[in-house]
Amino acid sequence: MRAFIVLGHRVPLTPDFSLNDLPGSAGRLDVLCRCVTAAFCLSHGIRRDVIVYLVLQNQIVVRFDGSRLKHLNPDERSTAALIQKALKAFSESEHRDRERESTPGIFIAAGGLSDALERVTRAGLTVYWLHEQGSSIRQAELHPRAAFVLSDHLEFLPEEAALLERFPRLSLGPLSLHADHCIVIVHNELDLRAGLASSDALP
Ligand SMILES: C[S@@+](CC[C@H](N)C(=O)[O-])C[C@H]1O[C@@H](n2cnc3c(N)ncnc32)[C@H](O)[C@@H]1O
Repeated sequence: MRAFIVLGHRVPLTPDFSLNDLPGSAGRLDVLCRCVTAAFCLSHGIRRDVIVYLVLQNQIVVRFDGSRLKHLNPDERSTAALIQKALKAFSESEHRDRERESTPGIFIAAGGLSDALERVTRAGLTVYWLHEQGSSIRQAELHPRAAFVLSDHLEFLPEEAALLERFPRLSLGPLSLHADHCIVIVHNELDLRAGLASSDALP
């Protein structure tokens, strides 16, 4: 089991945004959609043992559960449409602190980074903070049941850093990378360490 917690600092909290303007008025929702694609999509299939938590402005958590996920395509626009549906379900919900499944495998509830951290910790996952100034992932011992926290296009806020400083901080290399590229690298690192043969990935 692997999990990715991605912090979206400017993504709208309501469904009133245009799918034609994900990088603009939708607050860089394109970044989060690419993270979802990177976390789940293989060349011919979906990684079923993955959970993604999108934390929107530290107020809403959208959870993608690979074991139940349907209708996920590799393009940003259709993923954004799934998130928009989730936000619509959330806006109509009378019990916002209770998770609601908006489409198969996509759940939404009120919550923030601390809630996502609590969930992955309760599930027995080891949490790692992905940060440009961390220690090298190559030398790190990585637990196969792991959760990785990333920011979107912006720096971690001081209050987020305060919650994360108790976890190991890992760097993927000397350059600052796009969040979705970090997810691909982490998957690859764990796939190699798990000794997955290429035949494991064939249908
Ligand atoms: C585009 S970067 C964030 C923006 C960047 N910190 C800045 O200069 O504004 C997106 C996220 O990917 C992760 N990341 C990027 N490069 C990384 C690296 N070399 N090692 C580990 N994590 C990295 C971090 O979580 C980072 O917050």
